[in-house]
Amino acid sequence: MSRFPAYRPRRLRRTEALRHLVRETRVATEQLIQPLFVVPGRGVEHPVPSMPGVAQRSVDRAAEESRRLADLGVPAVLLFGVPETKDARGSGAVHPDGIIPRALRAIRAAAPELVLITDVCLCEYTDHGHCGILREREVDNDPTLGVLAAEALAHARAGADVVAPSDMMDGRVGAIRAALDTAGFDHIPIMSYAAKFASGLYGPFRNAAESTPAFGDRRSYQMDPANADEALREVALDIDEGADIVMVKPALPYLDIIRRVKERFGYPVAAYQVSGEFAMVKAAAAQGWIEERRVVHESLTAIRRAGADIIITYFAKDAARLIEQGRA
Ligand code: PBG
Ligand code: ZN
Repeated sequence: MSRFPAYRPRRLRRTEALRHLVRETRVATEQLIQPLFVVPGRGVEHPVPSMPGVAQRSVDRAAEESRRLADLGVPAVLLFGVPETKDARGSGAVHPDGIIPRALRAIRAAAPELVLITDVCLCEYTDHGHCGILREREVDNDPTLGVLAAEALAHARAGADVVAPSDMMDGRVGAIRAALDTAGFDHIPIMSYAAKFASGLYGPFRNAAESTPAFGDRRSYQMDPANADEALREVALDIDEGADIVMVKPALPYLDIIRRVKERFGYPVAAYQVSGEFAMVKAAAAQGWIEERRVVHESLTAIRRAGADIIITYFAKDAARLIEQGRA
């Protein structure tokens, strides 16, 4: 305390304008990505009960929503597709006219300026709900790689700007990079879910994506929440295999990982504020126990402060509105 009263930190907290002048971290709409869930049909807008304000939308409605997002300045959407039919190998994932290729074409037409990012995984397309192909009751790594690469290629051919593999198979970034490069898509970046933890916070998403595993869990491919050094090895691998943006997921419980990834690699880092993080805020706010707006802004600020350049969040649309109104 020897510097008191020469240094009084409260001097710079006296007014809003002063506080803004010395604010170290800002959240801008241009850093946010809104996930969208696309389902078969026309005119479908089916609310997801565990995610208030989030809906499963048919291609036409997803295109309309994308237009609204673009008008609000949200730069990018992350697309998850629920196919008409599911099978053991997730064949719907590689179909050139599957749900995601159709969504890509419609959204491109409705909102040409949006960055269209596609989730590359099999769990929405397999009848067992796992992120890869099974041998007996285990997810078989290497045979899955070719399917993921074919899925990424189908998305690129249908106009995806970025592909985002979320399966956590070993070697999938390299396999996807090779497939894209060979087919003339060497300009399409990969945003890899590099450090994706086996989290209890994915439940609402699995309702929305209809991707709950029929048996077992994802702990044989997603990471143990206890491991930080291993997360850095995962990120190093993905970068080595050609990832352009590396993602940490979930976000708020893993701020230490975000910070270490940013400091160690200096790559663009994305953080995914997942469905359970969203649902917790919504539920507490609905009870009147917390103030939603403040907590949304505080959590996004914390994720940025930890070192994330990009935030994938179901709050993107709301946050964009608040930022525009100068209320965030
Ligand atoms: C799986 C996948 C998950 C999420 C996106 N893709 C998690 C899972 O089901 O294990 C979670 C996103 C969220 O919870 O918002 N490929
Ligand atoms: Zn998956």
